[in-house]
Amino acid sequence: MSSEYLIEVEDLKQYFPIKTGFFKTTPLKAVDGVSFQIRPGETLGLVGESGCGKTTVGRSILRLYEPTAGTVKFRGDKITDKNIGEHRKNMQMVFQDPYSSLNPRMTVEDIIGEPLDVHKLYADKKERRDKILGLMELVGLNAEHATRYAHEFSGGQRQRIGIARALAVNPQFIVCDEAVSALDVSIQAQVINMFEDLQEKLGVAYLFIAHDLLVVRHISNRIAVMYLGKVVEIGDADEVYDHPVHPYTESLLSAVPIPDPVIARNSKRIVLSGDVPSPMNMPTGCAFRTRCRYATDKCAEVCPSLEEKGNGHFAACHNR
Ligand SMILES: Nc1ncnc2c1ncn2[C@@H]1O[C@H](COP(=O)(O)OP(=O)(O)OP(=O)(O)O)[C@@H](O)[C@H]1O
Ligand code: SF4
Ligand SMILES: [Mg+2]
Repeated sequence: MSSEYLIEVEDLKQYFPIKTGFFKTTPLKAVDGVSFQIRPGETLGLVGESGCGKTTVGRSILRLYEPTAGTVKFRGDKITDKNIGEHRKNMQMVFQDPYSSLNPRMTVEDIIGEPLDVHKLYADKKERRDKILGLMELVGLNAEHATRYAHEFSGGQRQRIGIARALAVNPQFIVCDEAVSALDVSIQAQVINMFEDLQEKLGVAYLFIAHDLLVVRHISNRIAVMYLGKVVEIGDADEVYDHPVHPYTESLLSAVPIPDPVIARNSKRIVLSGDVPSPMNMPTGCAFRTRCRYATDKCAEVCPSLEEKGNGHFAACHNR
């Protein structure tokens, strides 16, 4: 089976059963009917407020969770419980916190060598060592670092170690879950540049999850915006930035700090009122209506679906 897409996510649902009484569980709809595609070598940015389901989308694609419903295809091949073992090497994840995701008592060599061991990707010790040194070079670490322990490194360097480990199995797709969010701004830029360089060299595709819209714009070809378990807008990165359609995207963009104080003073900031509803007790119709200044009666009755607004730019809103 072949496909022009590397990853195809179709109507993905991830409900977590939450105990709400002695004999009662209520589904928490963390991801509720998400669809998108990613081409080989492409970066899709995924943004939205805390708790909207970004990490759950990433984890469900990699089948770290068994999806409640929906399908994920890799190069046209539907991922199932049975074939996920074969696909593990193709799809990797880099986590937010380089402090907790790496064992501080392991050496760099052992951390990067672990996936090589698991997948038996070398013939002898020399080949193992050469591969590790090659990966370290790829992410900008010196060979002398190989025998040092993870706890001896700074956050930015630890993130490089984590990326080298993810790259060890030569994946075609990496979920970067807030991979630079915990780093200082100056270090963020360096690590983002490295992600871009690696993409150019290796042709790897990314699902780049972040809450910082500026970070995502820089690295992404396309951007998907999530609100309460659903994608509410998706399109070309510049399109979504320069011409946001969904009121939620509009408010997210107006919350991005503007470096120029004059422009900042003259810009119309949209401050969202109202609380984010609980994913266990979603409003009827459009989930954003409790905070939307364009809401009409229809919004309470009918849940809007994604519709093309031109140029491959989709948004889910009745009134825009
Ligand atoms: N394993 C789990 N069991 C139960 N509920 C979960 C689980 N994982 C996530 N959730 C819930 O699902 C929703 C989505 O969580 P998720 O971590 O995917 O959001 P997120 O967009 O990644 O947020 P953040 O920006 O804070 O990382 C939240 O309401 C969260 O509490
Ligand atoms: S559908 Fe209605 S409530 Fe939802 S974003 Fe559009 S205008 Fe606002
Ligand atoms: Mg998350």
